[in-house]
Order: sequence, then C-alpha cells, then structure tokens
Amino acid sequence: MDKFLVQGSGPLNGEVRIGGAKNSALKLMAASLLAEGSTSLLNVPDITDVAIMIELLEAMGVRVQREGHRIDIDVPAEIDPVAPYSLVERMRASIVVLGPLLSRIGRAQVAMPGGDDFGSRPIDMHLQGLEQLGATFSYEHGDINGRAEQLLGTEVFLEFPSVGATENLLMAAVLAEGTTVIENAAREPEIGDLANFLLKMGALIDGIGTSRLRIEGVTVLRPVTYEVIADRIEAATYLAALAVCGGELRLQGARPDHMEMLLRKLEEMGMACQENDSGLEAKVRDRLKAVDISTLPYPGLATDYKPFLVTALCVSHGAGMVTENIFAGRFRYIDELVRMGAEIRAEGRHAVVRGVERLSGAPVRAHDIRAGAALVIAGLAADGETVISDAHHVDRGYEDLAGKLSSVGAQVTRV
Ligand code: EPU
Repeated sequence: MDKFLVQGSGPLNGEVRIGGAKNSALKLMAASLLAEGSTSLLNVPDITDVAIMIELLEAMGVRVQREGHRIDIDVPAEIDPVAPYSLVERMRASIVVLGPLLSRIGRAQVAMPGGDDFGSRPIDMHLQGLEQLGATFSYEHGDINGRAEQLLGTEVFLEFPSVGATENLLMAAVLAEGTTVIENAAREPEIGDLANFLLKMGALIDGIGTSRLRIEGVTVLRPVTYEVIADRIEAATYLAALAVCGGELRLQGARPDHMEMLLRKLEEMGMACQENDSGLEAKVRDRLKAVDISTLPYPGLATDYKPFLVTALCVSHGAGMVTENIFAGRFRYIDELVRMGAEIRAEGRHAVVRGVERLSGAPVRAHDIRAGAALVIAGLAADGETVISDAHHVDRGYEDLAGKLSSVGAQVTRV
C-alpha cells in the first residue's frame, strides 16, 4: 500500500539538511541504559528505527520523551532486561542492548535476531567477545539469556571488524572491572561517536578511531546531553541523486571527513565535491564515467553506499565491476533495477554494471532501507513513472526522503 511515485527528473538544485546518523543514534540510545538518570540526545532523526528503539527502551521500564529531533531518556535504577522478539524481529540493531544490560545489571534476555535480505547475519562475535569478558549465555525458546556477575576486562581479538560486535563490547567494557583491549575493532565514524558519548558519561577509552580500543572500566557512568553526528549514508543518498540527475547540491551538516573514500570515487566518476562552512557542496555537469567499486570496512567504501553507486553506474558512461565484501546477499535490488532496463550481470559477490542512457520507469519493490532509497534514485534517472512499493522499509532509515528530494527539484511523492 505504501509507495513512492517517482518521475524522471533533473537537474537538481538547492540545499538539503542532513540529519543525525541512524546507526549512531540507535547505539547511543542503547548506551543510555548504562547510566541511571536522564540522558538527552540531540539531532536524532525522525525515522521508524528510532521509534522501535524507543519502544524497546520503554518495554524495559525506561521513560522516553521525544520532541522534534531531541529525545530525553530517563533510565530508572531497576531495568527489566528483556528485548522481545516482536521488536528484535523488526530491527536487528536491538541486539546492541546486550552489552549495556550485561554490564549495568548483569542480566539480559534478548530474542535471537532472524535472517534478513543481506544473507545470514550471525552474532557469534558479539557473544564470544562478551563470554571472554565473563558473561555466560544459554539459549531457550528463541531467546539469548545472558548472565554476568561482574564483567572482567580482558583482550578480545575480533576475527573481523564487526560494527555491532565492537559496539556491544565497548558498551560492556566501560563498566567492567579492569582493562579491556578490543583488537581489530571496527572504525566506522558511528563507533567514534559512541565512544565520545561514553567518554562524556565518564568512561575511560583510548584509541578512538583506531582498530585498537583500550577501555579502563569505571564503576559508574553519569547521564549526559549529546548531539548525534550527521548521517553519512543519508548524505550519500543525495549525492547519488545528484549523480544521476546532474545539477548542484549543498548538503548542510554533512561530514565530508567521514566520507572520504566515497567522495574520491564520486570525483573519479566526474562529480566535483567541495567541503564548505556548513558541510559539503557537489556539482555534476556531464554524464558520469563508470568506475569499479569494492566494499570494505571503514575507511573503505561502505556496503551501505553500494546500492547508490550501483544505481549511478546504471546510467554512467562505460562499465563498472562491483564487489561486495561485507554481506553475502546484498544484491537483491539488482533484479528490480534490471526491471527498469539496467544492464547488470550479477554472480555471487560480483556484479558488472554496463551504463545505459536512461532507465525506464516500472513498478518495483523495496526490500530494505538502502535498496529502497536506491530505487527512488533510479526512478529519477528513468523515463516515465516508477512506483516503488513497500516504501515503509525506506522510512526505517530516512526522514522525509520524498520531501527533501522534492525541495531540490526532483519529482517524488509518497503515497
Ligand atoms: N558478522 C559475523 N559475526 C558477528 C557479527 C558480524 O559473522 O558476530 C559478519 C556479518 O554477517 C557481516 C559482517 O560481519 O558479514 C559485518 O557485519 P557488522 O557486524 O559489521 O554489521 P552490523 O553491525 O550488523 C552495521 C550497520 C549496517 C551496515 C554494517 C556494515 C547498524 C544498525 N547497522 O551492521 O547498516 O551495513 O554495519 O557497515 O549499525 C543500514 O543502515 O541499513 C545497515 C544495514
């Protein structure tokens, strides 16, 4: 029932405000459980995933109030440490309450997340790391039951720099006794934001922004007021719209320092990008040139950018090879792009995209947040009308995508 209607558009012109990062806000909300009292978060995007995290905190007995982009989270002394399946099923990121619950109250009952469109997404590294800190887990009726008398600092070597595992371990280690070292930690800007938030709460963390985080446990953390960093993936979405439509955009509040690899790729394709006082400005005059892309953990090219870059390649000059190194199954939207006339051959982790002049509007379906947004962008580069169904997936991560795109001249409506 919920759809985006998109008409071929362009060129785009004007300014878009980039909101707070979804993948930071959700973790900061979970981290607020670490301190009794009232934490306030500013620049929180108005998106469904944040609403689900609010429901999850409320289910634990936390009082949450939201006004515009500010949320006040009042954490009581007693928390009910249960994350039910009804919420975890709607948002996998709910798993990040595991670390804070175990370190703050020594108990957690969190539903095991199921599979999703990205292929199998295990949480073994989260659990093994927490076990190394002294937690024990049992599994019953689809739930993970965690217990920890007192977490004890130790060295944890992650097999892969998992974002979620790094976050869960960081939030567990801040209240553990002694020193924890997380080796091969993920370095995404959202992890830096979480670490800075924890520092403000009174945590002791060294190595922020590096792959070696050293945490000295403290006995108590205090509630604080903190502003969430800008969403680099939202910024990338508008850059992709510019890539296919041409024109000139200013992204107010964007953080070019968090998007270096992406900006290099877009410049290689022919976009001019320039940092300015309020964020970033970018221009596209001619049809872009195809490049090869390969996703990697930060500072490499984020897997979340890939659907946007693939869409840009669909109408670029030449052919580009795309390799996915993070998630096994993140190519499903390609079948939808092919319905729109894209020339893509995908096999396993690879896809070859041969640019065509224009796509052709068609009915397509959003399978996840980023894929849905990428199809909206594809619609901008298509003749006629594109109807994207299951638009609610996009609402999980975007505040008013249609409104922001329309404000710079794109023809997009949400019905
Ligand atoms: N992995 C394991 N075991 C684990 C954890 C991860 O094998 O215990 C594997 C995953 O299966 C995957 C890889 O490691 O192949 C990377 O997963 P990671 O843990 O880094 O990702 P995540 O924490 O589950 C976050 C973002 C994703 C983003 C990825 C990669 C949030 C809520 N989600 O997921 O964002 O794609 O990092 O950067 O922060 C989105 O915003 O739409 C989104 C999916």
